Parts: sequence; structure tokens; C-alpha cells
Amino acid sequence: MRMTSRDSTRTFDSGSPEATERVGAWLGERVPAGTLFELRGNLGAGKTVFAKGIARGLGVREVVRSPTFSICHIHEGRCRFFHLDAYRLGGPAELLLQGWDDMRAQGVVAVEWGDRIAALLPAERIAVDIEHCGSQSRRLTLRAYGARLAKILAALPAEDPPKSAGAGA
Ligand SMILES: Nc1ncnc2c1ncn2[C@@H]1O[C@H](COP(=O)(O)OP(=O)(O)OP(=O)(O)O)[C@@H](O)[C@H]1O
Ligand SMILES: [Mg+2]
Repeated sequence: MRMTSRDSTRTFDSGSPEATERVGAWLGERVPAGTLFELRGNLGAGKTVFAKGIARGLGVREVVRSPTFSICHIHEGRCRFFHLDAYRLGGPAELLLQGWDDMRAQGVVAVEWGDRIAALLPAERIAVDIEHCGSQSRRLTLRAYGARLAKILAALPAEDPPKSAGAGA
């Protein structure tokens, strides 16, 4: 999608799963309910790791696992967290049948393989591209569409985000 001046982009070089998770947690602490994260990257890139961070930032206490086989996991935090995996979905219609609109009304959504349901994604969202650069290194490219999310992303510290309330051990 084309970016406008209201949107923002940030890139990070992550050197560990923990660093990737911290970026997710920093955002998870700050994004409003209704936010959708589109997580993109090859198998094993770190989409689930990033989603674990979002969950932690949202105050989810239970263990977050990959939703690949169940398609959607629902967690309770400061708002609901819907963690989806579009890898096995046949097409947009399948997800609509699962109450997509309702999810966003209730909380924060993260969709792994979001590019597979591109037609369904709302214009306002945070797209996270994770590129595998080495065994422990990943390049994260984050794009926030829409002024509200862009403002949050722009405030993300440039270096490894510091630990904060929801992002502790
Ligand atoms: N810097 C890093 N950031 C994220 N994950 C990393 C990093 N370095 C190594 N890893 C490892 O890469 C793997 C990422 O797995 P993860 O399940 O998050 O990938 P995924 O993108 O969700 O894959 P899938 O497409 O199968 O859902 C984990 O084993 C994690 O420990
Ligand atoms: Mg995954």
C-alpha cells in the first residue's frame, strides 16, 4: 500500500528473539483497542515471537503459542487480544465467517501471514515485515498507516526499546 505523509516507517535490526519481542511489547502497551497488526515474513521469521511481545504489552499473562493449527487464539489482557494465523486459510471469506469485524471492535488483533488476506485488511494498521538475516538476526520493518498509529510508532525508541511496565521479565 502506498504511504502518505501521515504514515510512518521504522526499521530495527534485532539480534535476538527477546529484542524482537520487546519491540512488540512496547507497541502492545501503547496501541488502542481496534489496532490490527499485520505480521509478514517467511516460516520461522519471528512473527509469533513478535505477537508474544504484543500480548505481553497488552498485559496477557498466559502463554502465547502459535495459532497455526487452531487459526485463532483469544487472550485477555487490558483488552482482548486476537492472535490469528492466516497461513491455512482458504481465502478472505473464511475469516469473515469467523467474526473478523467483531474482533477489532473488542480489542487488538495480530494476523500472522496477513499478506494472505490482504484484501481484508483495514487501511489503518501496523504492518510488520520480518526478514531473516542470520540465525539470530532479523530486520524488522514497521509501517504504521493512519495518523494515530503513525504517531505511536514514531515514538518507539530507536535502539532496543527499554523494558517498561508490561515488558519486564
Ligand atoms: N532476532 C530474532 N527475532 C525473532 N526470532 C528469532 C530471532 N533470532 C532467532 N529467532 C528464532 O526464530 C524463531 C522464530 O519463530 P516464530 O515461530 O516466531 O516464527 P514465525 O514467523 O511465527 O513462523 P511461522 O511462519 O511458522 O508461524 C524462534 O525459534 C526464535 O527463537
Ligand atoms: Mg508463527
